[in-house]
Amino acid sequence: MFEIKGKVGLVTGGTSGIGLAISRELLEMGLKGIVLVGLNVDLGMKVLEELRREFGDNKVLFVKADVRQKDELEDAFKVAVSTFKNLDIVVNSAGILKNKRIEDTIDINLKGTIFSATLAFEYYLPKYKSGTEGVILNVASITGLEPFDSIPIYASTKWAVVGFTRSLGTERQYMRNNIKVLAICPGFTTTPILDFDEDTLLNSNYVEIYKSVTNSVIFQPASHVGKAAAFIVSQGKSGSMWVIKENQPIYEAKFEDRKLCIG
Ligand SMILES: NC(=O)c1ccc[n+]([C@@H]2O[C@H](COP(=O)([O-])OP(=O)(O)OC[C@H]3O[C@@H](n4cnc5c(N)ncnc54)[C@H](O)[C@@H]3O)[C@@H](O)[C@H]2O)c1
Repeated sequence: MFEIKGKVGLVTGGTSGIGLAISRELLEMGLKGIVLVGLNVDLGMKVLEELRREFGDNKVLFVKADVRQKDELEDAFKVAVSTFKNLDIVVNSAGILKNKRIEDTIDINLKGTIFSATLAFEYYLPKYKSGTEGVILNVASITGLEPFDSIPIYASTKWAVVGFTRSLGTERQYMRNNIKVLAICPGFTTTPILDFDEDTLLNSNYVEIYKSVTNSVIFQPASHVGKAAAFIVSQGKSGSMWVIKENQPIYEAKFEDRKLCIG
C-alpha cells in the first residue's frame, strides 16, 4: 500500500474537473504539498485561493504550463521539488475533447501525457520520492478500452494512453525504480470538457451518434472519480487500469493475458 499522507503531488489539468477532484481528495488524505499545472492563469489563481483557504497557505501552488511544451512542464516539476523538496505522485489529467482539432487532441491527450509521465518515471520520481515508492496516475477513459465511434480521434488518444501506461507499468519496469504506473478509465463525468462546441466532433455526420451515446449514459460527478482515484493511487498495482463509471463501484479492467514479447 502506498501511503498518501505526507507526500508531494503534481497534477496536470489540476485546476478543473477530474484533476481538481483528485487534487482535493489527495489533500484531504494529508498530502504535504501539491503543484497544480494548468493553462488558464485566472482559473489557476481562483482555485489556488479556494484550496489554500481549505487546506492551508503552504500546501498548494499553481504553475502555468502547456503540456505540449516539455520545457514548460519540466519547469513545473522543478518548482515542485524546489518548493517541497520531494515529489511522489504525478497525475496526468490534462486533456481536451475536440475531435476536429486532430493535432491538438494528439498533442495534449497523448504527447502531453507521455512528456509528463516520462519526466516523472525516468528522473523526478526516482530522484525525489520521499519513501520507497512513487506513483504515476494517467487519466485515460472508458473510450480507451472499447471502440467509441462517435469520437474516434479522442478515443484513439485514450487507447494510446492505456497502451503507454501498461507498457510503462510492467513488473520489469517497476523493478527498475519502484515507480508504479497505472491509469483510471472514467466514464462520462460532468466537467467542462463535455461543453459542446463546433470542434467537439469531427464533422456534422457524428452529431446523431454522439447524441445517442450521451442520451443513454449515466453521468457521474467528478468527486466520485476523485475519491476512486485516491484509493487507486494508494492500493492499485502497477500496470492496472481502473474503470470508474456511472457513479458505480470501481473495478479493474481485465485484458487477455499475453507474454511480454521482448527480450
Ligand atoms: N469528463 C469526462 O467525461 C471524462 C471521461 C473520461 C476521461 N476524461 C479525461 O479526464 C481528463 C480531465 O478532463 P475533465 O473531464 O476533468 O475536463 P476539464 O476540461 O475540466 O479538465 C481538463 C484540463 O486540462 C487542461 N488542459 C487542456 N489543454 C491543456 C494544455 N495544453 N496544457 C495544460 N493543461 C491543459 C484544461 O485547462 C483543464 O483544466 C482528460 O484527460 C479527459 O480526457 C474525462
